[in-house]
Amino acid sequence: MQAFVDSICAAIAAASGRPAAEIRLESPKNPNQGDLAFPCFALAKAQRAAPPAIAAALAPRVAAALSGITCTPTGPYLNFRIERAALAREILGEIESRADAFGTSRAGEGKTIVVDYGSPNIAKPMHVGHLRSTILGMALVRLHRALGYRTVGINHIGDWGAQFGGLVVALRRWRGEVDLANEPVMGLLALYQRSKAAIDEQGPSYDASFAKEARDAYRELESGVDGEVRAQWRWVTQVSLAAFAKTFARLGVTHDLVRGESWFETHLAPTIARVQAAGIAELSQGALVVMLGEVDKGLKETPCLLRQSDGTTLYATRDLAAVFDRWKEFEFERCLYVVGGEQKLHFRQLKAVLKRMHLEWEPRVEHVDFGLLLGPGRVKIASRRGEVLVLDDLLDEVVAAARERVREKNPDLPNLEAIAEQVGIGALVFNDLKRERIKDVIFDKDDLTSFEGETGPYVMYTHARSCSILRKAAAMGAGRPAGPAGVEPDWRAIENASAILLQLGRFPAVVRGAAAKAEPSELAQYLLGLCREYNTWLADRSNKVLGEAPATMAARLALVRGVRIAIGNGLRLLGLAAPEEM
Ligand code: ARG
Repeated sequence: MQAFVDSICAAIAAASGRPAAEIRLESPKNPNQGDLAFPCFALAKAQRAAPPAIAAALAPRVAAALSGITCTPTGPYLNFRIERAALAREILGEIESRADAFGTSRAGEGKTIVVDYGSPNIAKPMHVGHLRSTILGMALVRLHRALGYRTVGINHIGDWGAQFGGLVVALRRWRGEVDLANEPVMGLLALYQRSKAAIDEQGPSYDASFAKEARDAYRELESGVDGEVRAQWRWVTQVSLAAFAKTFARLGVTHDLVRGESWFETHLAPTIARVQAAGIAELSQGALVVMLGEVDKGLKETPCLLRQSDGTTLYATRDLAAVFDRWKEFEFERCLYVVGGEQKLHFRQLKAVLKRMHLEWEPRVEHVDFGLLLGPGRVKIASRRGEVLVLDDLLDEVVAAARERVREKNPDLPNLEAIAEQVGIGALVFNDLKRERIKDVIFDKDDLTSFEGETGPYVMYTHARSCSILRKAAAMGAGRPAGPAGVEPDWRAIENASAILLQLGRFPAVVRGAAAKAEPSELAQYLLGLCREYNTWLADRSNKVLGEAPATMAARLALVRGVRIAIGNGLRLLGLAAPEEM
């Protein structure tokens, strides 16, 4: 597709005297008008003429410079239509030759993207917010990686803070009362909640001696002494990470670095010193703060707290240390924080501190926020046991629903279990990515595992169906690429599929756009549109693929292969599997 775009841009450049790099083509709103369009508004100023007059004057000269592409002036636009056989040959040829790499590029080479995602808190199970962060973040890593960027996926676990003083004391006092052997994270959560109640001055379970012991324990932890407190904390970290690892593995998620808040322990004093040296830290009721109103009016009343009056540090202090570190180590093009909307204020404050420090890379720090994951009826997803929703329970549930769907569709599938896991997880992932991330997502396991509608299984099934057509063709010895052993395709056989071809041609641009906007939904929506168009085409009896004349079959099989490759690559970029049979 790029080849057509390039030659059209070159022709317009030659005819108008503008540099080709400045010429932007679009897809006409009405596909009957053409495959590509050039809005002449962009030239109106330089040429001091009305866009329709420019279009009319340019058209004959542009047309003369092109072959196999017609150029028609329509109002303020130049519309281009590519000769059908050339369109098919070019697009399907490109896909075939690039195969798994179709959609990738080297645009980002030499640049680094840091993505902070998942990032759960120790001593608690991951919750649905972490699930969304994990899925979105991993997709953003994959999209950028496909564009040649170096990506650094970071799991910034929450493993530091005053709450762990309380947890250590709870372990001292009550460890015998919970089952830490079989379900350590659930046991730790119970202790964590109990300790929180004990240090809550306002609450009915407040216990002054517990609270004092908890404060002492946290102070000991922060002081760096390697004693009992630190040993307990270390153990809690290990069991929690082991539990998270299982969930991440099921979701196909990996991180390059696990650098939790505690990693920055020795960076906190230097971080505070650096902010002080910038002359923007001030004392307020014993605490050290940075006032932010002058760079962000909305933050006038909410300064960033760097150090409490008792000398301990905060979440913000550690994020500041982390971002300094990330910049120093990676000099990132972008540093994305995939964290739910409830932390908007926190990241706005973080950026405002960087602004007050006049760090020119501040705009590269982006909070990629997202909406909630809710149950049907927009209610909080109910827990299957106890008070907290365990993510693995949710995953089991979708996989069970997917198993039924797959069994219904294909009762003889040999590896049902493995496919059910792929389809279930894929359904969950796609459901999370298919809408603009800022919107809330509804988790309805029957809906999202359906093979019809806007679902992951629908896209996966379209891929598997194409694989099946290609397998049958191979068994018949048909559909080999053109050449001495193959058949020259008769492109007229897919003349009515130009909308699909044009959509296939857009795939690389969709991948670029989704990465740039940190919006994987653009790729998910694209895949849904492609599948709809293609399934409609396949369902039309006059487009029968198998059992036709060899040249007809060759053209239609090339289309099926092209679609299969684009869908497969798209699914994998989003973090779904693309099984060949389901
Ligand atoms: N642990 C935090 C939470 O669960 C998320 C951390 C996000 N990353 C960051 N650098 N603050 O809410």
